Amino acid sequence: MKTVIGNLPDMPNEVERSILLSRISNTVNDMLSLRYHIEKPGTTIQEQKGEKKSPDTSAKLEAKESENKEENTTITLQEPQFTFDQVVLEDKIIDELQYSIKFEMVRDLVYETWGLKKIEPSPKLALNFHGDSGTGKTMAAHALAKVMGKKIILASYAEIESKYHGDGPKNVKKLFQFAIDNDAVLFIDEADSLLSKRLTNVTQGSEQAINSMRSQLLIEIEKFSGIVIFATNLAENYDGAFKTRIRSIKFKKPEKELRHKLWEKMLLATLPLSTDVDVEKLSEIEDVCGRDIKNAIVKAAIVTAINEGQTGTITHKVLETAINDIILSNKEMGHTSKSIPLSEEEKKDIAKKIKGKLKEQKDEEATADI
Ligand SMILES: Nc1ncnc2c1ncn2[C@@H]1O[C@H](COP(=O)(O)OP(=O)(O)O)[C@@H](O)[C@H]1O
Ligand SMILES: [Mg+2]
Repeated sequence: MKTVIGNLPDMPNEVERSILLSRISNTVNDMLSLRYHIEKPGTTIQEQKGEKKSPDTSAKLEAKESENKEENTTITLQEPQFTFDQVVLEDKIIDELQYSIKFEMVRDLVYETWGLKKIEPSPKLALNFHGDSGTGKTMAAHALAKVMGKKIILASYAEIESKYHGDGPKNVKKLFQFAIDNDAVLFIDEADSLLSKRLTNVTQGSEQAINSMRSQLLIEIEKFSGIVIFATNLAENYDGAFKTRIRSIKFKKPEKELRHKLWEKMLLATLPLSTDVDVEKLSEIEDVCGRDIKNAIVKAAIVTAINEGQTGTITHKVLETAINDIILSNKEMGHTSKSIPLSEEEKKDIAKKIKGKLKEQKDEEATADI
């Protein structure tokens, strides 16, 4: 990515450059999420922490986990790893999530006792958490499962999609069935391609495979009576059929007040924090998500431990440097989804350049006229 960015034409200003960068990065991400895995059967199995593992260790884990293994996919159930008091979100999102929890609590009363099952035979909860990466979508799904006292099934588009063309729809079916059988929350990550508009004028086998997976997904959602949560980065371009069946909840990068809460929550009391750590100042640092803050704290702790050992204290400066480094590397990677606002100085500089260009042009015209 770096070289691509380095070779970008000299854009007139940073805003346009950053918009272009984020468009490129989105396109690359789209292309990556459409990739087809060509792997040996049984190798894409997710460990509890969500890491890929070798077939050897996975074999051991498989024995412990409740799962459904068939040919080339393994679905794993796990205990939710986060609770609601760890998640920092806008009130609006919390309210939406609360509604889902309450829905679950009154489901039996409404559909069974009050008989609404007659007119809605498949009372489902289908949500789409969409928004920037690292803003707490996965975490919120865990927290929802936890509060509902259910296990969670973590799947991603890449896993569902077959390693062999044609198996995708079968995997979708299997996944939903597995969720029902285990009364678990089904979480489907990286679902952009799955929920996108179904393609017309299909020309290639791969397009056909995606289309049939999307159609199967619609069928499964329709008859599903459990809880399914999709996570996506894009909000647009979804198939209308999905839009009407799935409630979308937007996750945004935190504003200052939430950043303050995030810093406070993650600067654990067990950390050897120096007295100069100023959470207010840290929370003024913009364009960071929950993941960035977490990573900064972890990095600051590691740097302190390496440099100072057991008696070390984590200073404000170390934390500030860590978060700024992360912001910088996000920008270099083109991960920032927002255009970077121009500073006053940059604005003046650009104005000067434009004026200079105009003057050059005028001068050229003047010489041409002579
Ligand atoms: N809203 C948040 N509240 C608390 N922690 C967060 C939040 N967003 C991100 N984090 C931290 O960043 C990590 C990654 O977040 P995650 O939920 O995986 O993001 P996403 O799924 O949106 O990409 C979390 O495990 C948590 O440590
Ligand atoms: Mg995630």
